[in-house]
Amino acid sequence: MKGVFISIEGIEGTGKSTQAGLLAEHLRGQGLPVVQTLEPGGTPIGLKIRELLLSLESAGMDSVVELLLYNASRVQHIREVIIPALGRGAVVITDRFSDSTVAYQGFGRGIDLKLIDSLDAIGTNRLRPDLTILLDIDVETGLMRNRHINKRDRLELEDVRFHEEVRKGFLRIAAGEPDRIRIVDCSTGVEEVHRRISVLADDFIKRSGR
Ligand code: TMP
Repeated sequence: MKGVFISIEGIEGTGKSTQAGLLAEHLRGQGLPVVQTLEPGGTPIGLKIRELLLSLESAGMDSVVELLLYNASRVQHIREVIIPALGRGAVVITDRFSDSTVAYQGFGRGIDLKLIDSLDAIGTNRLRPDLTILLDIDVETGLMRNRHINKRDRLELEDVRFHEEVRKGFLRIAAGEPDRIRIVDCSTGVEEVHRRISVLADDFIKRSGR
């Protein structure tokens, strides 16, 4: 595959979507073809799955059903959007990918990491981002930011302890893959975070020679 696959990850309130948009704009400004997308979602089917997953009406959803639905959205996303775009040589920027499943369903919900890994092997065929930007912030600040913009979906309503486990999960995954995952502290302003992400992405794209 000729393209470059970048994911942006993090707990609630880290400003991932804003940063994904700014990075897309930055790379387009250099003349690169960019596809900006998100999970769950990224396709019409994925958006329906997203609605089902995040709706407050899904309060009774079993955690294994949740895991399967995130994977289902991802498989559709990979086949319909990500692989074709990488094949055309685009830079794909996704707001969340499989690290979110390990962090939320694995570390947050406590589902066996081996089960998550086996599903990942089937669903993604081990497709991994070339570069992952992990936006990090303390849980209270992140949740507070989302409350200010009135963002309240099913997972955001989980208690602080759940989100602490998710954050620890992300940091653990990052510690195990320091070459792929770069942590960016996002307690600074939007512009500074964007500057740091752009440097990481520019360096990566230059080094990879794509
Ligand atoms: P967001 O993209 O607006 O942050 O919403 C997606 C929510 O879904 C967020 O709470 C994280 C959660 N999520 C999982 O629990 N597992 C996953 O695999 C993905 C992609 C997201």
